[in-house]
Amino acid sequence: MRTPFIVGNWKMNLTLEEANDFLDQITNKLPDTNKVECAIAASPIFLESLTKYCKNSPLKSAAENCFYKDKGAYTGEVSPYSLSDMGINYVMLGHSERRKYFNETNKIVNKKVKAVLKNNMIPIICCDETMTKQKTDNHMDWVVNPVAESLNGVSSKNAQKIVIGYEPSWAIGTGKSASVSETQEACCLIRKTIAELYDEEVANQVRILYGGSVNDKNVKELMKQKDVDGVLAGTASLKPKEFLEIINY
Ligand code: PGA
Repeated sequence: MRTPFIVGNWKMNLTLEEANDFLDQITNKLPDTNKVECAIAASPIFLESLTKYCKNSPLKSAAENCFYKDKGAYTGEVSPYSLSDMGINYVMLGHSERRKYFNETNKIVNKKVKAVLKNNMIPIICCDETMTKQKTDNHMDWVVNPVAESLNGVSSKNAQKIVIGYEPSWAIGTGKSASVSETQEACCLIRKTIAELYDEEVANQVRILYGGSVNDKNVKELMKQKDVDGVLAGTASLKPKEFLEIINY
């Protein structure tokens, strides 16, 4: 049984005061962890207060990115070792904004996936899709490479813990989400890809989320799809009221 998983991605928004106020407002309003697991992905400046908050809450913490080395002369980077030491549960990797603005490739994502697993955290691997590719005949082919390349060399024991996000970039922040059937088709293809790379057992453990203009109106239908185990919400995760409506869908 895969527990539904909902992740809010704050991106580079909110001040520390706004972030703390958000957490105050969701206190005691989160669903039971057996029913729905919830996490907030935040930038490094909020992670200390987020992890402290999570100690007394069912909320899980996530970083939005990290480097693939544990320590050293890498000015400006965030160490997976330090994130783990701080108590972070998840690390989001390969978000389309990282790929677009910071030239992250599947090879780099693969190194980060291994670093995150080595440090006992769980990677949330985001797979991008561009509008151009979506318009080609075999628009679903895009998914096989990112999934296979990001998991290159990852053992099946580790692979079954990971979370994968189907995040078509044309749906991110645009207010135009993928249709329910497109989402199910893509998530099913991701699961089949994992079954081919590993086996059915691993594929049945991996949680696959959809991200791209998720809101309190479309979440319910998305969550009903067989291969959709949860959602990633960006814009809708910035307001406590909207986030609460999504997680209590
Ligand atoms: P959005 O962002 O909900 O604002 O579309 C989703 C994401 O980037 O994860």
